[in-house]
Amino acid sequence: MNDHPQASSPFRTSQLEENDGPGHNASENPTMGEIISSRFSRRGLLKGSLAVAAISATVSPIALILADEARAEAASAFSFDELEAGVDETHHVAAGYDADVLLRWGDPLFADAPAFDPANQTAEAQAKQFGYNNDYVGFVPIDGSADHGLLVVNHEYTNPHLMFPGLVKIVDGKVEQGPLSREQVDIEMAAHGGTIVEIRKVDGKFQPVLDGKLNRRITSNTEMLLSGPVAGNDRVKTNADPSGTRVFGTVNNCAGGVTPWGTYVMAEENIHGYFAGELPAGHREAANYERMGVPDGSYEWAKFYERFDIGKEPNEPNRFGWIVEVDVNDPNSTPKKRTALGRFKHEGAESSVAPDGRVVFYLGDDERFDYVYKFVTAGTFNPDDRAANMDLLDEGTLYTAKFSEDGSVEWMPLVHGEGPLTARNGFDSQADVLIETRRAADLLGATKMDRPEDIQPNASNGKVYVMLTNNTKRKTDQVDAANPREKNAFGHIIEITEEGGDFAATTGKWEVLLKCGDPSVAEVGASFSTATTADGWFGMPDNCAIDSAGRLWVATDGQGPKATGRTDGLWAVDTEGAARATSKLFFRVPIGAELCGPLFTPDDQTAFVAVQHPGDGGEDWDGFGRASYYEDPSTRWPDFKPDMPVRPSVLAITRQGGGKIGV
Ligand code: FEO
Ligand code: CA
Ligand code: CA
Repeated sequence: MNDHPQASSPFRTSQLEENDGPGHNASENPTMGEIISSRFSRRGLLKGSLAVAAISATVSPIALILADEARAEAASAFSFDELEAGVDETHHVAAGYDADVLLRWGDPLFADAPAFDPANQTAEAQAKQFGYNNDYVGFVPIDGSADHGLLVVNHEYTNPHLMFPGLVKIVDGKVEQGPLSREQVDIEMAAHGGTIVEIRKVDGKFQPVLDGKLNRRITSNTEMLLSGPVAGNDRVKTNADPSGTRVFGTVNNCAGGVTPWGTYVMAEENIHGYFAGELPAGHREAANYERMGVPDGSYEWAKFYERFDIGKEPNEPNRFGWIVEVDVNDPNSTPKKRTALGRFKHEGAESSVAPDGRVVFYLGDDERFDYVYKFVTAGTFNPDDRAANMDLLDEGTLYTAKFSEDGSVEWMPLVHGEGPLTARNGFDSQADVLIETRRAADLLGATKMDRPEDIQPNASNGKVYVMLTNNTKRKTDQVDAANPREKNAFGHIIEITEEGGDFAATTGKWEVLLKCGDPSVAEVGASFSTATTADGWFGMPDNCAIDSAGRLWVATDGQGPKATGRTDGLWAVDTEGAARATSKLFFRVPIGAELCGPLFTPDDQTAFVAVQHPGDGGEDWDGFGRASYYEDPSTRWPDFKPDMPVRPSVLAITRQGGGKIGV
């Protein structure tokens, strides 16, 4: 067992994304102080030596395991030949499937976009090309087709050490990264944001349509509107925008979602990295910014753009950390930052329609000891009138979750004037509650989680899956029922069943679906089923998808040679019946990468996966063993050409000969 499995990168923007800081939650919400042993699985017990000795039945433990394995295999919802886990410089997919590169960093997105020329990249070219570090992937069908639609992709962040020639030098064995030029910062800003691109299946494989009329790049300079309760508030007014309603750009767009009415929502996650400078003495935002880790200064943008210097524009950070909604049907539409969904380090925003027509968005705040949220719209979804849905995200109720030891979950509303959310605690309006969502949730006593990443409602069974990626800082006395392991290096997955299967319910039940990590090491306390093979277990769940058959697929972030002896990838995870908690490896990434997406087309015949930050790392891999940077990367995936850098890319996985995936 390893307390700190992530190899710490020498590069600032990589460190920011490893997110391995102490967390910024200094509130004192109660913890339960003991491990809930009744939630241990049978496998966990059998694998522990003490537990094996304690079994007094005449049936041998081995026989029990074998019987369990047979039952689980028979009951699995998935059918494919499992891939072998491991580490190397390329991607791998299960036998009988193809994983084809669809879009790489720098690929043209418009008929008039220049070809990628990495040694002579410009911001202008980058703004017409696929951005860096693809994360969320969504698909909006055109005319209801599963073969033709808009692919929407977030570009979360940039790795300048892998993007720009000549930036990194190794001096006396130590990494030195030079300062970025203004042009390089401009390229970074153009490589952030999102891509909207038409794709069409030709001869069984998706291809981008470069003359698609709806193709669009969104960047850190795209003009956006602040909408909802915070729009126009004094705390979001700046010198450049005295109205407090117009913002340039979006940053650190991690996961996201596609709404039931076909818009694209982008989550702004680690916004603190982009701000530098010092607040004026006694500024009212000091505590707010401390809770968000602002400023962090991992990026050099403030050198060239005053709005990222909080000494000069102290309110600018309040204009980031939101969910951004984009109307993909109009390439000239102004994206809207929907403030009703709160401000924090938003991981994603997957949604489902409740029985009464209200729409429910599940939201994670990805930091150690931060919270799970959901937003329920006030209005109802109208499937026959798209225009009527376009401002649903401006009104509704934001809730945060309290997970109790008895297996119940309570969704507590963050409403100004209710409970502690009053002027007495510095909340003069709902805008104040939303700008300081974290502090409001602290006061309500929300449960401090092990880094909530993607949260996915499953419309086919009314359940919700919460990926909790890891939290090595959780101490023994901070362990609670919903976060049952101290120094949680490998993360876990919680399954919520909302009351009556209604996603808008304010109460529900929860249980741990899976405690991750190597189940053959008793001390890890992992809880995969006995049918899970040595290739099938994983750690650090991050993104997930539910396919059309209602099956769960989990992508990981943070595995590697040292942490788990395997790269990140995509695992098929059974949630039902005797096979519950059985996991199988389907796809894995090259060295240094994490896996984002994933997404299945409505016919389950294509799975899109986003290979993010390939080649970012390799120090801990015997096949490389040194710092990885532009001139000397740990892999040149996916092109493997000496003059091409390693490139984050989205792949499309299909079954050879066609058909649904994993059946
Ligand atoms: Fe951007 Fe929490 O992953
Ligand atoms: Ca993520
Ligand atoms: Ca992550």
